[in-house]
Amino acid sequence: MSLVVVSNRVARGKPNEPMTGGLAAALLPVVEKTGAIWVGSSGRVRDGSQKEPFAEVEALGAGALAMLDLPAAHYGGYYEGFANSALWPALHSRADLIRASQDDYASYREVNAFMARALLRFRKPDSVFWIQDYHFLALGAELRDLGATQPIGFFLHTPWPTRAVISGVPHHRELIEAMLAYDLIGFQTDEDCENFLSYVRDDLELAVQDGIITSLSGRTRAAVFPIGIDPDRFAQQATKAMTHPDVTRLRRSLNGEKLAIGVDRLDYSKGLGNRIKAFDRMWTLHPNLKRTVSLLQIATPSRGAIEAYGNLQSEIAKLVTDVNGVHGEVDWTPIRYLNKGFGQGVLAGLYRTAQVGVVTPLQDGMNLVAKEYVAAQHPADPGVLVLSKFAGAANELDAALLVNPHDIDGMARAVAAALAMPLAERRMRWEAMMARLNNGTIQQWFADFIEALRDTRNPDKAIMP
Ligand code: UDP
Ligand code: G6P
Repeated sequence: MSLVVVSNRVARGKPNEPMTGGLAAALLPVVEKTGAIWVGSSGRVRDGSQKEPFAEVEALGAGALAMLDLPAAHYGGYYEGFANSALWPALHSRADLIRASQDDYASYREVNAFMARALLRFRKPDSVFWIQDYHFLALGAELRDLGATQPIGFFLHTPWPTRAVISGVPHHRELIEAMLAYDLIGFQTDEDCENFLSYVRDDLELAVQDGIITSLSGRTRAAVFPIGIDPDRFAQQATKAMTHPDVTRLRRSLNGEKLAIGVDRLDYSKGLGNRIKAFDRMWTLHPNLKRTVSLLQIATPSRGAIEAYGNLQSEIAKLVTDVNGVHGEVDWTPIRYLNKGFGQGVLAGLYRTAQVGVVTPLQDGMNLVAKEYVAAQHPADPGVLVLSKFAGAANELDAALLVNPHDIDGMARAVAAALAMPLAERRMRWEAMMARLNNGTIQQWFADFIEALRDTRNPDKAIMP
C-alpha cells in the first residue's frame, strides 16, 4: 500500500520549529515513520496559467513531503475565506462569526479540484488516500470525478456541530453530499459523529445503520478515532528540556513561585478571554495567591488577516495589560504573555515547569496541548491539568479538573484547587490520565484508521476512468 496523506498545513520536521496546530504536530511523526507521502500547501501561491501544479518534494524521514503552490486567484477565498471564515466558526459553533461570499465558496471548490488534479501525480494502483480536515471536505468527490478508484478516507480534526449550526454554512447540503464520496469519515468524539449522522439522517434523509450511510455514492462509514500523542517521546523531551536555556531562565526567574501555563493559537475557540478573567478573579478572591502563582500564556499568532482574529489579538492584549495593571507589583508580573511559538523540545520543559496546565477552550476538536502537558509531567511530582469539558480531550482525560469555560468563578476555584492539591491526589489523577494516553497513542490512531479504511472499502464507489 502507498499512503498519500493530504492536508492544507504540513510540517517540515525541523527540530526547533514550532508546530502550527495539532494536525501538523500529530501527522509529522507518523509520516516520518510510515513512509507516507504527505501533500499540502507550500504557503506560496502561483498564477493559474501553470499547466502542471508546482510541487516542491523533499524527504521526510522514511516518507516524503510534497508542498504545492496553490492558485493565486483562489487562495484567499479558499483559506481566509470559506475555510476559516465560514467552516471554522460553524464547526466551533460560532454561527455569529460566519462570513462567506459566493466567490469564497467558488474558490474553495476550485482549490479542492486543483488539489485533486495535483494528487493524480502521486497516485499508484495500490494507493490509499487519507484527506485531513475541513479545508478539503469536497476533495474525495473531486478525486472520484477524476476516476480515482482507490480507497479514500477523511478525518476531521475539529468538532462537528449540531444540524442547526452547520446549516448556517452556505452550500452545506452540497458539501455534505460531496463528503459521501469518502469511504470512511473519522471524527474525534461520539458527539461529533452523532451530530454528523443526525444531519445525514434528518436533512439528507438517508439510511444510516451502525454508522454506515447508504447513498447514491455508495456506502460511507462514519466512526470515531480520537487522536493521540506519543507520550514516551514527550516525556523524554521534557526530561531533556529541563537543561534548555529558556527553561532554566524561566525557572530561575520564578524564584520558587508556582507557575500555571497556557499554550494556544490566538483563536476565539480557545477561550483565552475567560481564562484571563478567571485568573483576575482568583487573585481578587485570594490575594494570598499574588506572588505565589503567575500565569505564562503562550498565544501564537494565527490567521491574522481575518478580522475576527485581528480583533481578538487586541482584545486579549488589552485584557492582559488591565489585569497586570491591577494586580502587578514593581517586582511581580502576574501574567507573562508571549505572542510567539516554541519548538516542542522547549515546550515540553515549559509544561514540566508548570504546576498547573490550563486548557479552557470554548470548543475544541481534541486539544493536543492538554495531552502533551500531562505526558511532560515528572511522575514523582506531577502538575494538575485544568481542562474544559468542551475539549475532545475531556472524554479521555476525565481525571483532570474539568471546568465549564463560560464559568469564570468556577475556573478561578479550579485553579486555586489545583494549586492546593496534595501530592497523593495529583499522582492518582496523573496516573489515570497517563493510562489513557498510553492506550490511545498517535501510532494507534493512525493504525486504527488505516485498518478501518481498508475494511470499509466499497468497490461500488469506484467510477472507472
Ligand atoms: N505548538 C508548538 N509550539 C507552540 C505552540 C503550540 O509546537 O509554541 C504545538 C503544540 O505542541 C501542539 C499544537 O501546536 O502539538 C497545538 O495543537 P492543539 O490541538 O492543542 O490546538 P490547535 O492549534 O490544533 O487548535
Ligand atoms: C487546527 C486545524 C488545522 C490547522 C491548525 C492551524 O488544528 O484543525 O487544520 O492546520 O489549526 O491553523 P492554520 O490555519 O495555521 O493551518
